[in-house]
Amino acid sequence: MANTIAIYNFKGGVGKTTSALNLGYAWSRSFKVLLIDCDPQCNLSAAFGSSQEPKTIFYYLKKMLHDQAPDHIETVPVTPYLHLLPGDFQMVNIESNNQFITFGTSIIQKLTYLLKKEFDIVIFDLPTHFGMLVKSFLANVDSILIPAIPDSFSIAGVKTLLSYLYEVERVKPLNILGIFFNMYRKNLLHHQEKYRESTEEFTDMILSTQIRNSIKVAEASDVGKSINRINPDNTVARDFLQLSDELLAKFNIKFLDDQLMESGFLNQGQ
Ligand SMILES: Nc1ncnc2c1ncn2[C@@H]1O[C@H](COP(=O)(O)OP(=O)(O)OP(=O)(O)O)[C@@H](O)[C@H]1O
Ligand SMILES: [Mg+2]
Repeated sequence: MANTIAIYNFKGGVGKTTSALNLGYAWSRSFKVLLIDCDPQCNLSAAFGSSQEPKTIFYYLKKMLHDQAPDHIETVPVTPYLHLLPGDFQMVNIESNNQFITFGTSIIQKLTYLLKKEFDIVIFDLPTHFGMLVKSFLANVDSILIPAIPDSFSIAGVKTLLSYLYEVERVKPLNILGIFFNMYRKNLLHHQEKYRESTEEFTDMILSTQIRNSIKVAEASDVGKSINRINPDNTVARDFLQLSDELLAKFNIKFLDDQLMESGFLNQGQ
């Protein structure tokens, strides 16, 4: 059964979308990955040039709200192993929909169930505001990954975020996959200090990989490719690969066993 991951922080511009794109590519080297653009800003979809697709996340949520649950969710193949369920600006309206307020969590549960049958890893790129929409996604995912930037406001924000996350009524137990620093400058004492403070505060929730700051990240996003596909020798490309491996090691063990069993890896040599 697939692993579902929400990339979330209620602070804007910390690299949620960038991380979704780069981790998606990194994991698609070994797994079938789906990226879901849940943000009405649609940055992730725009990066892939998928701003005009009719079958968006909103299209499916709306269908389900009208009791027309589909058997299959159509996704856009970016590569054979990386697909996208595009975003939609109309997602801004869904939160005020009374049906969604009552049934949102169970609808997203159904949607997730359908997607898990076809993908190994499903990544939700969430918007920043902490409303009903975000809560419904967070309630359903297997784990939550938190990007942060190494400054005091961002760290204080993560603290508040964690206390909110513990309050969300969940379908699954809360599993924070980790918190990592993006736009990190290794030679800045201030960033080193923030990293050290955070490991004291959040202990093993802080991932050891930091993603360095580089203009190459923005350039790669502009053409909808991961930094690794544009420039595999770039230090940030290596950072994202290292982060993808670190996270893979933290995924729930059952998930990895199942996937390796399916690929025949565990049977080799018998
Ligand atoms: N490691 C990095 N180095 C340099 N620039 C980066 C890095 N990570 C992200 N950026 C840039 O920072 C900006 C914000 O990143 P991104 O859109 O991924 O953040 P976000 O958290 O998804 O934002 P939002 O809250 O608006 O959804 C983008 O222009 C992106 O290209
Ligand atoms: Mg974003």
